[in-house]
Amino acid sequence: MSSSFQVSITTTMAVSTLKHAKKNLINPQLATLYRFSSPKHHYHHHTSTIHRNSSEFYSPRITNSRVSPNTCLISTIRSHFRCNSTLVEPVVNGETGFERIYIHGGNGAGLDVKPLELERVEEESRRGVNIIEDFEKEGVVVSEIEEEAWRLLRDSVVSYCGSPVGTVAAASNPLDKQPLNYDQVFIRDFVPSALAFLLKGEGEIVRNFLLHTLQLQSWEKTVDCYSPGQGLMPASFKVRTVPLDGNNEAFEEVLDPDFGESAIGRVAPVDSGLWWIILLRAYGKITGDYTLQDRVDIQTGIKLILNLCLTDGFDMFPSLLVTDGSCMIDRRMGIHGHPLEIQALFYAALRSAREVLTVDDGSRNLVQAINNRLSALSFHIREYYWVDMKKINEIYRYKTEEYSTEAINKFNIYPEQIPTWLVDWIPEKGGYLIGNLQPAHMDFRFFTLGNLWSIVSSLGTPRQNQGILNMIEAKWDDLVGSMPLKICYPALEYEEWRIITGSDPKNTPWSYHNGGSWPTLLWQFTLACIKMGRTELAEKAVSLAATRISMDQWPEYYDTRNGRFIGKQSRLYQTWTIAGFLTSKMLLKNPELASLLTWEEDPELLDMCVCALSKKGRVKCSRRAARSQILM
Ligand code: GLC
Repeated sequence: MSSSFQVSITTTMAVSTLKHAKKNLINPQLATLYRFSSPKHHYHHHTSTIHRNSSEFYSPRITNSRVSPNTCLISTIRSHFRCNSTLVEPVVNGETGFERIYIHGGNGAGLDVKPLELERVEEESRRGVNIIEDFEKEGVVVSEIEEEAWRLLRDSVVSYCGSPVGTVAAASNPLDKQPLNYDQVFIRDFVPSALAFLLKGEGEIVRNFLLHTLQLQSWEKTVDCYSPGQGLMPASFKVRTVPLDGNNEAFEEVLDPDFGESAIGRVAPVDSGLWWIILLRAYGKITGDYTLQDRVDIQTGIKLILNLCLTDGFDMFPSLLVTDGSCMIDRRMGIHGHPLEIQALFYAALRSAREVLTVDDGSRNLVQAINNRLSALSFHIREYYWVDMKKINEIYRYKTEEYSTEAINKFNIYPEQIPTWLVDWIPEKGGYLIGNLQPAHMDFRFFTLGNLWSIVSSLGTPRQNQGILNMIEAKWDDLVGSMPLKICYPALEYEEWRIITGSDPKNTPWSYHNGGSWPTLLWQFTLACIKMGRTELAEKAVSLAATRISMDQWPEYYDTRNGRFIGKQSRLYQTWTIAGFLTSKMLLKNPELASLLTWEEDPELLDMCVCALSKKGRVKCSRRAARSQILM
């Protein structure tokens, strides 16, 4: 039985200063989309509810009682119980290492989060002048496909408390006997939807999404009596309607997150928090509304995520150590350890955090830690993940069993590991970042999302970033084929498939995560191409997708070596397929907007070497031993 109590709080709204408004609005079209007015019209009074469920005593639920359509009941979250966590704060100089990250107060065991203030954007103050209408005025024809896509995207919107908060992963299909969790709002899936809405001048849904998911971050979550860290963001959430206090006459809506405790494989979505920070930065850049990121609860949320990522552990590398399936590829695919996808998103999230964190005495050390990590991470990836003809030839002639800090073959890679497919496949021109690096192991598979985000975030050098696009161009038939883009190349087959995927029938060779083609990767490809001045490649891929994507009913993924068939178990009307296509189209029509979503090389980060900053005399800088000189 659950019991709930409500506390009404009339929130005193601080008048937002909009101090950053219009900063960085490089695009006049966006300036008209986001008109800045005094925020006083947008705020409503809020009431807070704390929902308690005795069987889930440590999980205050976010609730929204349907009292009146205009009243929004939202919980304050005060998490009192950390009984299962083994989080230990590192102690440095008598202080906890991240003392600036944790919020002090309360009983010291929990976290006080400011009540959620939802900005209701009233209809007349909606800032969205339809960008599509603007294009039409300028003579740009909006294709029927785009019109259909907008209709479908709008149909996928999920509301909570009468406000839009996200989009479902895929439209429901009455014939589907196993709908699984595709009726939920996935954090990673929502990103292209968010960008499409932002570029169209509709910021409200994104703002709501960022605020609501922030509240979910503070939930207590357990798998068999063990809790992950507090900053973990859910993979997805669902809006459920449940009877209020067991009374079937009154109902309330609750947000029900999944942190991996119900997910297939029980994997924690490491990428969710990274995407959240990236999206927060994008929201500010596109709308010019920086008041959101300046909020205390948002700043705390960023710090909690970073705390999880930056806490010292046993690791010798600056890259993030994760389990298999902790990202878009959320099933076993041999990507445990230091997969490129996570490193590239981590790098982009750190670069975003550097921009959105308010620098004060409480965050100065954190910003320093971010800078150090950015510098070390980019060195590590540029130096050790990059392969091209020259590098593979170097590996081919590696000496092994070297013992010294000056070793060339630092990870003791045996040349026999170079797969036979790669020897013939690697083009003369271009190269790519490998999928993963472990002691005595390089995963030479090409993973698209990680490579694209290395370009977008400038994790790779400008030359490497160009090289990746050159390789995609040279290997077009393999990586784009009939439908952009392959999630990874090549597929695991035979014994490798059996051992690495655990004989996963969904991940059979050239299907799903194992070499399937995912149209949602298109928007990230478009962004990378525009950034590198290779727009024609994106145009080609988008036109190719347009020839069949709508006819095929917007599938989640395609199968076979060339991506010719709709995936065996593919969902149809998959939202991130639809939104990814729309975002690509909008970026291509307005390429200057891409710079709001990408990062240029930062010379300050290149100059920095963490070792030089260290006061410890024993630290020996191994960067000097780096041989390939590909840092620029
Ligand atoms: C599948 C995908 C994952 C995606 C989810 C919802 O689980 O592997 O990346 O987020 O579906 O679309």
